[in-house]
Amino acid sequence: MQTISDIAQLRALRREWQINGLRIGFVPTMGNLHLGHLSLVEAAKREADIVVVSIFVNPMQFGAGEDLDNYPRTLAEDSAQLESLGVDVIFTPCAKDIYPRGLEQQTFVEVPGISYMICGASRPGHFRGVATVVTKLFNMVQPNIAYFGEKDYQQVQVIKAMVADLSMNLDIVSVPTMRHEDGLAMSSRNGYLNAQQRAIAPTLYRVLSDIKQALINGSNEHSQLIKDGNERLAEAGFKPDYIEIRNAQTLQPAGFAEKELVILGAAFLGKTRLIDNLPLALP
Ligand code: PAF
Repeated sequence: MQTISDIAQLRALRREWQINGLRIGFVPTMGNLHLGHLSLVEAAKREADIVVVSIFVNPMQFGAGEDLDNYPRTLAEDSAQLESLGVDVIFTPCAKDIYPRGLEQQTFVEVPGISYMICGASRPGHFRGVATVVTKLFNMVQPNIAYFGEKDYQQVQVIKAMVADLSMNLDIVSVPTMRHEDGLAMSSRNGYLNAQQRAIAPTLYRVLSDIKQALINGSNEHSQLIKDGNERLAEAGFKPDYIEIRNAQTLQPAGFAEKELVILGAAFLGKTRLIDNLPLALP
């Protein structure tokens, strides 16, 4: 396994892979890897000849007052895990190579509409930062296939829309969310929770699961389900951000006749913002 931070070095390697007709799988991450990330790497290992994992804590996707400075950086542990999975290259660019002219002057990629709702409404500019860095990483790695976790459901839809809109020549694969035994979705941000918050955290999953079950049972009382869900979160000790029942592709509010849905939730425990979602295909 090679760790490369130099973009020219990565490109030289990329040329060799291309000459040899190898298929490149890419897993972009911000590091602090957990089993959710590793499941993306395993999917890439199954489907590609070469697997590249990037680790870059992207300043452009963090808002003012968010956790950019405290975001856990654990390169030694991450490298050991990736090596044991047989990853070929860890790409660790630095911020001055990704944003040589600084964030203010940076050309950006924005996917309108879908980027402004739900998480995008709570975190203005977040998806612009994601779309911009992912475009840059795609241009550097030039993968045939890239893997994203379904836990960041809206992110996956934004990336898919971007790839289609900009005619990017690669496939996007989303991999189902990995959960702890109590249902909590795996996330680097779980590491911020104290013991009491960690005990409360799976309530988010339970609330979304109960809404899913109610929809399966035939309920079409979306507003009431959302209201009850928010109340349960608040009673458990969360500060709810949103619960939404949306069309699984467009993320527009779901009509009662729609079958392909996703139930999404975000809520704060102290300063930690947790998100989760459950896709649902009604018969
Ligand atoms: O999902 C993440 O970790 C990040 O948003 C990503 C896709 C690596 C872009 O910085």
